[in-house]
Amino acid sequence: MQTFSQYLNESGIDADLSQLLLTLTDSAKSISNAVQHGALAGVLGETEQENVQGETQKKLDIITNDMLKGALNADSTVKGLASEEEDHVVSVHRDGKFLVCFDPLDGSSNIDINSLVGTIFSVLPAKNGELTEQSFLQSGRNQLAAGYVLYGPSTMLAITTGSGVNFFTLHPETGEFLLTHADVTIPADTKEFAINMSNQRFWQPAMQNYIADLIKGDTGPRAKNFNMRWIAAMVGDVHRVLSRGGIFTYPTDNKKPNKPFKLRLMYEANPMAFLVEQAQGVASTGYESIMDIEPQEIHQRVAVVLGSANEVNECLKYHA
Ligand code: AHG
Ligand code: MN
Ligand code: MN
Repeated sequence: MQTFSQYLNESGIDADLSQLLLTLTDSAKSISNAVQHGALAGVLGETEQENVQGETQKKLDIITNDMLKGALNADSTVKGLASEEEDHVVSVHRDGKFLVCFDPLDGSSNIDINSLVGTIFSVLPAKNGELTEQSFLQSGRNQLAAGYVLYGPSTMLAITTGSGVNFFTLHPETGEFLLTHADVTIPADTKEFAINMSNQRFWQPAMQNYIADLIKGDTGPRAKNFNMRWIAAMVGDVHRVLSRGGIFTYPTDNKKPNKPFKLRLMYEANPMAFLVEQAQGVASTGYESIMDIEPQEIHQRVAVVLGSANEVNECLKYHA
């Protein structure tokens, strides 16, 4: 089986980008180790701190952020970074070629119940000159690479550099990511949906109507029965969608009037949208392609509907 570094060499990926991807995945190996040790390493539980989005930070949110930040600081290809756990963008190397946006620990509410968590990352090109927040505000179409590492029963890397999606599985003894699933594609049709149903009364009519029709099953307009899954870690839900199809959505809701969306564009929605489109799926807000959005700020939130192409397009008809 090909190791991740062999894969990078043999697929002719830019040497600097390869170096950065190895920095990110090496760091993910250390995170995987910390997550696996769990309570034994004293890394579970909350801190007293809040991030810029007003969420209480878990110890592991901070530990994983520091690990990635440390690794990226030591990589000369990196000009700057933006993280869910950093209030502002961070300058790294003046002459670096790349900007990295990341969610160091996605699904952090799962960590204390020993359930799925992951790391999500997105790589953008850097321009010459001084680094500002503005430097990061590029649409998802500019992404040079995106991926996630899922810390599950196995630790798995899903990655795209713009020519398809591959999965690598971390070998626990050798510490190598090995190519286990080449050219991943999402089946166009599905009978599986993922949404946090407890928010139902807060959704817009379009989503209310769409989900209501799924639930009517084979006696409703869709004429087939659907099953539901919700991992509460986007990384876990998207991994299932990439693995066997499905539709995943965190739609607009009016639960908190000043917070109509949950997921963050730059380090959750965009990288996942890149992976999904590269695996022949669709990733939308309900009204436009996620990767076409021109970002206004690094922590901006967005509605997300992604997955099996025919099913997402069906959902979009309710929004038209
Ligand atoms: P994070 O842990 O990085 O803040 O992200 C959690 C996100 C996402 O991964 C998941 O799909 C969603 O929050 C779950 O939200 P609910 O708790 O509302 O189900
Ligand atoms: Mn997240
Ligand atoms: Mn997070």
